[in-house]
Order: sequence, then C-alpha cells, then structure tokens
Amino acid sequence: MYFMILNLKDLSTIQKQYYLQHVIAPRPICFASTIDKAGKVNLSPFSFFNLFSSNPPIVIFSPARRVRDNTTKHTLENILEVPEVVINIVTYDMIHQTSLASCEFGKEVNEFIKAGFTEEEATMIKPPMVKESKVKLECKVIEVKPLGTEAGAGNLVICEVLKMHIDNSLLDSPSAAQDFPKIDQRKINHVARLGGDWYCVVNENNLFQVDKPNTQLGIGIDSLPKNIRNSKILSANHLGQLANVHEMPFIQPSFNDAHLKQIIQYYSINPEDMEKELHSYAKKLLDENKVNEAWQVLLSII
Ligand SMILES: Cc1cc2nc3c(=O)[nH]c(=O)nc-3n(C[C@H](O)[C@H](O)[C@H](O)COP(=O)(O)O)c2cc1C
Repeated sequence: MYFMILNLKDLSTIQKQYYLQHVIAPRPICFASTIDKAGKVNLSPFSFFNLFSSNPPIVIFSPARRVRDNTTKHTLENILEVPEVVINIVTYDMIHQTSLASCEFGKEVNEFIKAGFTEEEATMIKPPMVKESKVKLECKVIEVKPLGTEAGAGNLVICEVLKMHIDNSLLDSPSAAQDFPKIDQRKINHVARLGGDWYCVVNENNLFQVDKPNTQLGIGIDSLPKNIRNSKILSANHLGQLANVHEMPFIQPSFNDAHLKQIIQYYSINPEDMEKELHSYAKKLLDENKVNEAWQVLLSII
C-alpha cells in the first residue's frame, strides 16, 4: 500500500477542512435552535457534533469561525447571550430543508420561516424546538471553549441534555420483557454528513449488528488455529467474528449438519480441497452471523 502523507501545518485552511471532513465521516448532524437576548430565534445545522458522556449527559457541537472572513456564527453569538439550545436530530425527510437553513441568512432572519419548519415551545428552555424533527434534546450550555482565533477555528459548545423528546413512532412495540421503552434503530433514518456535498442515510438496507463482548473477553485472533488464521477464504472480518468467542470452542457431537457431512464424505480423499470447501461453508455461515455453527464446521478438520 502507498500512502499520500500530509503534514497538516503545510496545508491551507481550505485543504485541512477538505481532508478532515472527508475522512472523519460520517458525522451526525445537530440542528441547533438558539435565541438571543432580544428573543430572536436562529436555526442552523452543525456536523461537528457528538455524544461525549452519558452521566452527566453531555453532547458537544462546534460552530466554527467563518473561513471566509473569520467572523463568528449567529448560533455562537446567541449561546453566549442565552446559554441554552435545542438540538433537533436530522432525519432523511428533512435534509433538504436543513441544508436550506444553513444559508448565511442575516442575523434578523429566522431560519424556521426560511426553511419551512414549525416552532414548538420547549418545556425547560427558551429556544423553540423543530416540530417536524422526530427527536429533540433540550440542553443547557455549560461551557463554551474557543479552540483558536483564526478563521476556521472551532468553538466547543458543551451542552448538558436536560430533556429528550422522542416520537412514539420510533419506539419498538413494547414487550413484557422490556424494562424500559426501546428505540427501533431501523425507524430513525438518520442522516449524516461526510466531505463536501456528500451525505448518507442510515436505514434498514445498510444497518447491521456486531456482537459486543461486554464482560467476557474474546479469545483473540492470536488464539485462532493457524489454518484458520491463514485461510485464503475467510476475511479479516470473519476471523474477527471467530475470535470474539469467550473460550476456544470444542467439537459438539450433537452438531448434525447435512452439508458438513456431505463435504466430509465427498472430499475425504483430498484434504486440501476439503479445507477449502469447509472454509467456504464457514464463510457462508459467518455471513449469516452463525458463529457457533461456523466453528463446528471449522473444527471438523483441525
Ligand atoms: C449539514 C451541515 C453541517 C454543518 N456543520 C457545520 C459545523 O459543524 N460547524 C460550522 O461552523 N458550520 C457548519 N455548517 C455550516 C453552518 O450551518 C452555516 O454556516 C450556518 O449558516 C451558520 O448559521 P448561523 O450563522 O445562523 O449560526 C454546516 C452546514 C450543513 C448544511
């Protein structure tokens, strides 16, 4: 592999922004509603945004100094006057209006009106929520940390989330086993920002699950038998799945799989081809997230 190596201090602000935004991606979008002392409302999107703590519940976003003329954004000015913000979560159905709200309208312009959103009163703070957004976070700003004075410098707006409003339509149908209402991740349709004009949407077609080892440790790639680790058929992801089991699996005599039997019978005189076939079958099972079954297949030739 050959790499282009960039020394950030040799790049212009535009170049730094270009490369960083294309590679630190996708970024969730905070659609921030703020208000100034006189009661003028502002609504703008920020993708320099994320969750940093659950307890206390802290999110941070960053309205940067404008690259064009080193002025500060209205959102930041409002927050310095009234340290409160509603963070509205951006979903696919509102992305073009959200982009419209990012135009550099004058300070006197209310982007709710320009972008066609409806103001809805928040319960604990002054800035209004975006009625059309399916999730809104009422936040108190606990600190603003400027990261520099040059054009392009960010300003960390550190927010404590006081209240969440979650549209009922995003909730899973309740079951007796649940201790609290759960969000169905497939239903949100989050939109995220990448570099330049690129965005992505998170939906059922591109969502997948990865088992998370919680208290138990995975055995690790280094513990995999050599023939599995050096497989020409299994990918790095497949090895990651296999190595995430908590202890080295052993052959289960009760594992009764017709296809496995067929492979063993058919290829018994050619161990090399048998290994290929077994690895291909294990690969198929891993792609279906059947890790235990894949292990049983692989163990049959160790
Ligand atoms: C999806 C999206 C994400 C954006 N993210 C940021 C960001 O993280 N920081 C920033 O300073 N500007 C960001 N912008 C640009 C601001 O939204 C834009 O400068 C806006 O006009 C600022 O409005 P204000 O001056 O009313 O606060 C983003 C624009 C879009 C469309």
